[in-house]
Amino acid sequence: MLATLNDVLPRARRGGYAVGLFNAVNLELARGVIAAAERLCSPVIMGTAEVLLPFGPLEDLAPLLVDMARRASVPVVVHFDHGLSAESCARAIRLGFTSVMLDASSKPYADNVRESAEIASFAHAHGATVEAELGHVGNAGDSAEGRADNSAGRPEDWYTSADQALDFVRATGVDALAIAIGTLHGTYRAEPRLDYERLSRIASMTEVPLVLHGGSGLSDRAFAEAIARGISKVNVFTDINLAAAAACGRALASGAAGLTDLIPLEVAAVESAVAEKIQVFGSVGRA
Ligand code: 13P
Repeated sequence: MLATLNDVLPRARRGGYAVGLFNAVNLELARGVIAAAERLCSPVIMGTAEVLLPFGPLEDLAPLLVDMARRASVPVVVHFDHGLSAESCARAIRLGFTSVMLDASSKPYADNVRESAEIASFAHAHGATVEAELGHVGNAGDSAEGRADNSAGRPEDWYTSADQALDFVRATGVDALAIAIGTLHGTYRAEPRLDYERLSRIASMTEVPLVLHGGSGLSDRAFAEAIARGISKVNVFTDINLAAAAACGRALASGAAGLTDLIPLEVAAVESAVAEKIQVFGSVGRA
């Protein structure tokens, strides 16, 4: 069934588990995500990101994802990840996405507040939910999401301020807040050290569900700690993207000939990678 962030995240925050967002840039990824969620009776968040649109245009993906979500036996939020402008977020909402993230996190604070508040009021008027980002989650070098230049220098300079988080949530009315505590988008070159104290401080200041971007490659221990301290949504893309490609690579190496040989393997690889994360996030049986 089609759901919004408000249908799944406040319950996750109260229940001490997290709901995964898995970006699905084509039919096979979407099938894998929904199959895992249905098998484990878990709510799930599925979508695409603005930087991923070259791989699956919004107008093509929206009807597919929305209809699959509607027919699913578990709550599925169809979420537009890292929208880079109010216009693209509004376009996603008009096409049926039930949720959007406006990422104005590289802009000055006042602009981030103003733009996030505007899209929140537009989204709410259309029955959709909104995530924004405060601080900035960078890029390990191989992802199109987050700025790559903040993996250099002092990472803390990009982290979310707890005091600002409270002000930001009140001023914008967003339904979920992505925070920067040491994760990066893409493949980590070294095990990230997360600022758990900062996460706890932010969680103690606001009830709003908190989002951890850059979920690929984090250890199960890191997830457990982050979720125990208040993370309610975890974003994962690189892991499922690589799992699907690796399955295809293995099949080609052992003689698979056509795309039809690869499609079922791709779906199965994504299902298995997503199911693994759903188990770690603790959302099994929460649908
Ligand atoms: P990864 O690709 O590192 O898992 O990050 C995904 C993400 O945060 C999408 O917003």
